Amino acid sequence: MNIKHQESRFTSVAHDPLDSRHHGAINIPIYQTSLFAFENHEGFERAMLNVLDHHVYSRGNNPTVEFLEQKLLELEEGESAKCFASGMAAISAAIMSVIRSGDHIICTNQAYGPTREFLGTYLERFGIETTFVDGSSMEEWVTAIRPSTKLFYLESPTSGMFELQDLEALAQLAKGIGAVTICDGSWATPCNQRPLKLGIDMVVHSITKYIAGHSDCLGGVVIGSHILMDRLSQTEYMLFGGIMTPQSAALIIRGLRTLPLRMQRHQDSGLRVAKHLQDQAYITKVNHPGLTTHPQHELALRQMLGFSSLFSFETKEPVEKVKAWADHLRYFKIGVSWGGFESLVTVKEIDDGSIKGKWTLVRLYIGMESPEDLIRDLDEAWEGLESSLTIRMINTPNV
Ligand SMILES: Cc1ncc(COP(=O)(O)O)c(C=O)c1O
Repeated sequence: MNIKHQESRFTSVAHDPLDSRHHGAINIPIYQTSLFAFENHEGFERAMLNVLDHHVYSRGNNPTVEFLEQKLLELEEGESAKCFASGMAAISAAIMSVIRSGDHIICTNQAYGPTREFLGTYLERFGIETTFVDGSSMEEWVTAIRPSTKLFYLESPTSGMFELQDLEALAQLAKGIGAVTICDGSWATPCNQRPLKLGIDMVVHSITKYIAGHSDCLGGVVIGSHILMDRLSQTEYMLFGGIMTPQSAALIIRGLRTLPLRMQRHQDSGLRVAKHLQDQAYITKVNHPGLTTHPQHELALRQMLGFSSLFSFETKEPVEKVKAWADHLRYFKIGVSWGGFESLVTVKEIDDGSIKGKWTLVRLYIGMESPEDLIRDLDEAWEGLESSLTIRMINTPNV
């Protein structure tokens, strides 16, 4: 797939008309202020009637943050956007804005861990129940519906096993029962997927990842219709106060300018490395929606515009051995998150009680380095580990 055909959309989003208030500055200034003062009390009182339409206090509106919100809503083709301090601040605010005590939520069982904890454990305190389903099975979503179901929470693709949900079909199903749909689109970014165009009500992103793109700040965004976003802005946004700082907004605006270029590189490098790994004897399966072997590849081609570069592979090699392999890697850093320059790796053992038994899952994030260097790194670390294990075996006396 080619992200280039979308570039004109990004040209207009990244190209800002000169604003005389900023003396022609080519970058929006960082409005480092907590409050905005008024020339007279009458103007102040007028603004206080609707603080979200005026500049009164930065836990409401800040021009640098608003500038970013405007760009993000244009990219998603939504009506309104609000930025938050992190992806989780955006996700929890979006969820809270559409549910109340006694409601029921359905969510894919592959959603990001803290999101599942928020839905399944935290919200239980307020009498809100969540049913977790196999998100790829329409039948499970239908079966889980109750008269009190008010929200379908989606994350497509997910960031561990890279499962997709059928966004259009689920949006229709939810509309039929009067439920709202929220979709976490962090993996795809607005370059590669537009959930609102497929009928989803609200899209959330962890901006921390690809959108910011440099591992130097955190952020989140919720984008949706005026009706849903006005409600969220007046309550969860203003009352919880998990707002984005103007410094983070400025870094993210800078990152946005190269988003399509970076995503094209991530797509190409990610697929290149994933295809290479598919051929390795020690790997049993590579989970990447862009591979023809992915069970939902057809759905991916239908609802996505391209792919990114976070994926996982499965191996029957013991987890301790695979961790030792990760220790041998030169370019891949061991760490959480993704979306910045540097490639990342994490290893964990999975024991889901299935007949598969225990197995090892490796998550790889393919950064901006040369894909040839990354492939060499992955191969050499494995060869290095195998030969050091062989030497250790030869040197270990039989007892
Ligand atoms: C898919 C997904 N959604 C949301 C989040 C939360 O984002 P943040 O860390 O910015 O709060 C993460 C973080 O890793 C994530 O992977």
